[in-house]
Amino acid sequence: MGFYSRHILPKLIDKACRQPPMQALRSRYVTRATGRVLEIGIGSGLNLPHYSADVASITGLDPAAELTVMAAARAGDAAAPVDLLQVSGEEIPADDASYDTLVCTWTLCSIPDVYGALSEMHRVLKPGGSFFFIEHGQSPDEDVHRWQRRLEPFWKKIGGGCHLTRKADDLIRNAGFLLPELEAGYEPGPRFAAYMTHGVAVRPT
Ligand SMILES: C[S@@+](CC[C@H](N)C(=O)[O-])C[C@H]1O[C@@H](n2cnc3c(N)ncnc32)[C@H](O)[C@@H]1O
Repeated sequence: MGFYSRHILPKLIDKACRQPPMQALRSRYVTRATGRVLEIGIGSGLNLPHYSADVASITGLDPAAELTVMAAARAGDAAAPVDLLQVSGEEIPADDASYDTLVCTWTLCSIPDVYGALSEMHRVLKPGGSFFFIEHGQSPDEDVHRWQRRLEPFWKKIGGGCHLTRKADDLIRNAGFLLPELEAGYEPGPRFAAYMTHGVAVRPT
């Protein structure tokens, strides 16, 4: 972990993830979480103010210590008690079927073993439970996709391992979730990073 990853990247992530279009998407989905919630890759805690009073508790996990400290500073903005764990999504310290809701926003792009994490997420979500997700990823436009492939090796280095070409809907479906709600399209911003996929996945009963 160098100076950039410890001191600069967390501030860049927090600033980039506070853009108004992203906040609008957070408010569309995070407000629908209920019961015991697990947020994967909680980052600087930007979803915390969006949870409603229907949430009983929020467990937020993230391997990045500096971001977890920022999330702790926002825990008071949440409508429910917040527990922060500095761990990775690939090894979730929770019993099977112990959460009512999963939330994961702009994080599947950065998890090194994304199928390992999705398998853990599937394990800890109750059958019938909802998984709210918002991700950027592979554009359906060949010219944009070509640029995403070109930029990805450099982008991963400056973006904490963030991939530009992952397809969240395919990943989530392949991990065994149903996808009853799915939307995709460009948000404002550079097109290589602005193609968003968002919706609600469900663990089958
Ligand atoms: C672009 S940030 C998004 C943060 C937050 N979810 C948000 O919406 O503002 C990506 C996050 O993924 C986290 N991350 C990276 N590897 C991870 C892993 N293996 N498990 C869980 N989170 C991870 C990073 O630490 C970072 O907080």
